[in-house]
Amino acid sequence: MTEGMNRQWLIAQRPESEISESNFRWTEGPIPTPEEGQFLARNLWYSFDPTQRFLIGRAGVPEAESGAIPLGQPMIGFSVSEVVESRHPGFRAGDRIHCQLGWEDYSVSDGLGFAPAYRVPDGVPPNWALGALGITGLAAYFGVTEVARPKSGETFVISGAAGGVGSIAVQLAKIHGLRVIGIAGGPAKCDWLRQEAGVDAAIDHRTEDVGRRLTELCPDGIDIFFDNDGGPTLDLALDRLRNGGRVVLCGATARYGAVPLPPGPINYLQLVMVNGRMEGLLARDYLPRLGEAAQAMVPLLRSGRLKSKEDIVVGLRNAPAALARLYSGSNVGKQLLRMEDAPGE
Ligand SMILES: NC(=O)c1ccc[n+]([C@@H]2O[C@H](COP(=O)([O-])OP(=O)(O)OC[C@H]3O[C@@H](n4cnc5c(N)ncnc54)[C@H](OP(=O)(O)O)[C@@H]3O)[C@@H](O)[C@H]2O)c1
Repeated sequence: MTEGMNRQWLIAQRPESEISESNFRWTEGPIPTPEEGQFLARNLWYSFDPTQRFLIGRAGVPEAESGAIPLGQPMIGFSVSEVVESRHPGFRAGDRIHCQLGWEDYSVSDGLGFAPAYRVPDGVPPNWALGALGITGLAAYFGVTEVARPKSGETFVISGAAGGVGSIAVQLAKIHGLRVIGIAGGPAKCDWLRQEAGVDAAIDHRTEDVGRRLTELCPDGIDIFFDNDGGPTLDLALDRLRNGGRVVLCGATARYGAVPLPPGPINYLQLVMVNGRMEGLLARDYLPRLGEAAQAMVPLLRSGRLKSKEDIVVGLRNAPAALARLYSGSNVGKQLLRMEDAPGE
């Protein structure tokens, strides 16, 4: 951090397809001053989430249509930040908060946004606050425990199994006594799933025929499919769903950059044949129940029974590259960024 200066990444250009550093512009300016109802926060850690693609927009699509951040404004992401000055009734200087702020050293905010700012519970390190105990962890926790309604011994299949959400969901599914099959891209992710996360089987969708492997590994079908990628795997899973099967719709990374959007699942009528259920969840809406999820997961994290797998990049300069890792599938576990002088995990 430059003393007295605010380094920032601004949105410079809408991508044609892939996201790269050329979509952003690096700049330095004065540290902003909070107005009544705002606080000034120093940003410490950032989370990277596949839906950030929507904030950058797309070449040729008007802002009003895409909902993207206006050109020339800072890119934003979920952060753990420290309040340094407050004119906001809900926060005081020194508070460590989870919020959605700019890719910059310092931000002013009213704390509102897609997910309102909240204080990080004492003793929770920033990497957990953004990962296992953040929006990512809420999706995994409530997706597994509430939407999937797991019963011990059932077969649980998940796409994006070694990513932020997936890495927590597979372990929670094992803790619930499920037989877990993780689908992920590449040997490093599959090795981590087998050796560290303890899944029963892993499928590398880059080198293996996913349909054939699912048939081999799930001869009696699938009880729960937890979908993170929204691609063709959803149809393969629907086709193999057992009676009373559930599909948890968490995300659709495969669809986020697609123009035009590919058609939705073809095999959805299989839900009729098996009295099945397909249900989405929006983790943001579970924020009021964060305490409940933390109560269940903090002891597991502390004991090591639940591993917080993180992929940490250091330095604000690397924010665009860290985001791009999500779309190339380079990240193993939750993609995070720690500011150069921020406290470690
Ligand atoms: N519902 C909610 O409230 C909620 C909350 C948080 C996240 N989500 C969603 O959950 C999903 C996972 O999020 P995350 O933060 O944990 O991300 P992540 O899985 O850590 O990272 C994205 C992963 O997606 C896969 N991927 C990238 N491009 C792809 C493509 N074109 N087609 C298919 N897969 C692709 C890659 O994994 P592989 O190499 O293994 O394929 C990549 O590592 C996302 O769709 C996200 O939007 C939903």
